Amino acid sequence: MKDKLSQLQSKIDKAHLGGGQARIDKQHAKGKLTARERIHFLLDEGSFEEIGMLVTHRSTDFGMEKQQFYSDGVITGYGTVENRLVFVFAQDFTVFGGSLSETHAEKICKIMDLAAKNGAPVIGLNDSGGARIQEGVKSLGGYADIFYRNTKFSGVIPQISAIMGPCAGGAVYSPAITDFTIMVEGTSYMFVTGPNVVKTVTNEEVSAEELGGASAHSTKSGVTHLTATNDMDCIAQLKKLLSFVPQNCEEKAPSLPYEIKDEIRPQLGKIIPPVVSQPYDIREVVEGIMDEESFFEIHKDYAENIVVGFARLAGRSVGIVANQPMNMAGVLDVNSSKKGARFVRFCDCFNIPLLVLVDVPGFLPGTDQEWNAIITNGAKLLYAFSEATVPRVTLITRKAYGGAYDVMNSKHIGADLNLAWPSAEIAVMGAKGASEIIFRKEIKSADDPAAMLKEKEAEYAEKFANPFSATERGFIDEVILPEQSRRKLIKAFAMLENKVDHLPKKKHGNMPL
Ligand code: HXC
Repeated sequence: MKDKLSQLQSKIDKAHLGGGQARIDKQHAKGKLTARERIHFLLDEGSFEEIGMLVTHRSTDFGMEKQQFYSDGVITGYGTVENRLVFVFAQDFTVFGGSLSETHAEKICKIMDLAAKNGAPVIGLNDSGGARIQEGVKSLGGYADIFYRNTKFSGVIPQISAIMGPCAGGAVYSPAITDFTIMVEGTSYMFVTGPNVVKTVTNEEVSAEELGGASAHSTKSGVTHLTATNDMDCIAQLKKLLSFVPQNCEEKAPSLPYEIKDEIRPQLGKIIPPVVSQPYDIREVVEGIMDEESFFEIHKDYAENIVVGFARLAGRSVGIVANQPMNMAGVLDVNSSKKGARFVRFCDCFNIPLLVLVDVPGFLPGTDQEWNAIITNGAKLLYAFSEATVPRVTLITRKAYGGAYDVMNSKHIGADLNLAWPSAEIAVMGAKGASEIIFRKEIKSADDPAAMLKEKEAEYAEKFANPFSATERGFIDEVILPEQSRRKLIKAFAMLENKVDHLPKKKHGNMPL
């Protein structure tokens, strides 16, 4: 027995050393934590229970039988974050560059299966050279086993991918299917084909960082939802993200205790500029309405004409979707539609109520947009809102023009409560554009066309540049003063707390992808 105990201890010690001290030092020299350190900082102290520590690979080709490391390049197990169960895998770059072997994949699949059966999130800390080259197709099969589970469990349990090192080739498709991806600046990258292949095929010279670093994916492609300055920041953001989401699709997101006060926010009345074409930052509205410093923005640097993220309202977790007048006047385009749609669907999967702030002049015109399928992509946002059964509240702060009025969680597509500030303008288009079209003849034949345009513009604005005609029809439930917004919305979401709504029975819809 004593022998066996000391054998066990020696195996555990070896497992903790991963690929050896020299490789651990190399990892640290790059500014990266090791897989075990990452898990240590992510989970509540002492809560980690490792599964499969003594697993080794089965490969016998290329002398691999002589190179065995316990855990086989991935640390897997479960523990808690803020006392809530999570399953985690962390690829260990010190062992064969964190590359994925058949057994490495089996370990990941095992904890994914456990997570799904036990209704808890899976967090993947990725740091890998990709498929274990010595194992060939077995490794490719292992990836597919993971992708299959990512898909099967999508919408069942939250799945979050942190990219904390290389993530290349087909390996990128696991993070892509998960709900959120966060990349560490400077030490991580994601691409399907690396700079060498790019050079061979297209003759483009590009560095790994330019091609697939955190900056490229947070601003250009939108592949990553969040970026972190280093490993510790990444872990802090993972924890914050988890605090807004429920354990699984059957549960509600955790609420913080909150005592209702008067909730009037006078500063909200000072945000809308006097001139309708003047921009303002919609984040000021979000921050004025939601609990102090609770806003956690997602996809911050991508498609900045729409703002999405989580925040708390009287302690409740709420998903925010808001047009951003400060960027391209808040217009909807291909990228902002995709960004909004993806976020709405996440919230709907996981019972997170939606607050939609509207100030939108319409869809962006032009060949670029049409040829990049603004029709199909705009339809994604429309579809996502229409299908969502979570509590849905809309507040129109200023413009709600054209098709974008319909799309932005209008009453007609199933919103539960639609509010507007007195500054709201709900119309087919702005007064000037509308007058130029419908009064074209009068303006053209007038002695002073400019004065006539002004006159007609005022006439149109009087009729439609307000929230009242929509309110009289019941499309808006109430016109509220900005300073009352927080109070009204707290009450609205409390009223909708136990909302039940079902879609017609179907296998699944056919979203315009
Ligand atoms: C086996 C690997 C490996 C891999 C790295 N290593 N990647 N071993 N399979 N895929 C090993 C290295 O041999 C090295 O071992 C150790 O890990 C560390 O690697 P380094 O090259 O020293 O590290 P670094 O300089 O930081 O470069 C990291 C790297 C590079 C850029 C990731 O290692 C690399 O290019 N690896 C190959 C990447 C790749 O082509 N993967 C296959 C992609 S195709 P020693 O013993 O020397 O320290 C793919 C398909 C998936 O993944 C399809 C899914 C559907």
